Amino acid sequence: MLTSSNITPRLGAELDAAIQLKDLSEPEVAELVLLCAERGVVVARNQSLSPQEQSEFAHRLGEPLTFPNNPAHIPEELIVIQAGPNSKHAAGEGWHSDVSSEAKPPGLSMLRMEQVPDHGGDTLFADMYQAFESLSKPIQEFLETLTARHEPRGHYLYLSGAKAFDELETTDHPVVRIHPLTGKKVLYVNDGFVSKINGVSQPESRALLKMLYDHIAYTVKMHCRIAWAPNTVVFWDNRCVQHYAAFDYFPERRKGYRVTIRGEQPIACH
Ligand code: SIN
Repeated sequence: MLTSSNITPRLGAELDAAIQLKDLSEPEVAELVLLCAERGVVVARNQSLSPQEQSEFAHRLGEPLTFPNNPAHIPEELIVIQAGPNSKHAAGEGWHSDVSSEAKPPGLSMLRMEQVPDHGGDTLFADMYQAFESLSKPIQEFLETLTARHEPRGHYLYLSGAKAFDELETTDHPVVRIHPLTGKKVLYVNDGFVSKINGVSQPESRALLKMLYDHIAYTVKMHCRIAWAPNTVVFWDNRCVQHYAAFDYFPERRKGYRVTIRGEQPIACH
């Protein structure tokens, strides 16, 4: 049985310090997956995991996405997440859900940090269960009828090994989806990948998305913020949280490795 403590009343959990991921039994891995679905974010500190062990662990979580452009010494299941003195931006700087443009967009992501700046470099998370629940009933009912277009963006083109955007999937997903493990409704639009709400005019789509993105960004009671140390591993469930990597540490270095587990076609409410 995995023991953990909550980070905020509704969002995030931190596993007990004695837990080492590589020692988990199969039932404990299933428990971890469920904890991610319920709490959105799960933090594991002081993990002893090499890149190879992280990629092996990824296969216990499901089917990892693979990245054929990786150099030979980096397993194809890992994305290197890094920024340093030559970086103008960092990956994930803005609220998003990982690669939601896929027809089966990611369920879990698992980021293991190796190098952190002296201060800063936190990752912020926003709870999409609460984002949906805290909207008024008429807006909830309206959103449940809509779909949004999710399009691939620049950094993913490079990682995927594709040469052009039209080789990658662009997909329509319901604006409100049902989490397959908890059965709860989540708001599923993100500024990182959504280009428009379908079936309404461009000005209406822009206004609706702005309202929802403001709701996500400014409702701080549905956020949590994770400070990293070397060997911290964080899992998040992209179906029910969005995240934002704070790039406040320039010109210091931050480096980690992410695995991303394929999810399923989102389930609509109707
Ligand atoms: C990402 O996966 O979007 C990056 C998250 C981070 O670097 O904290």
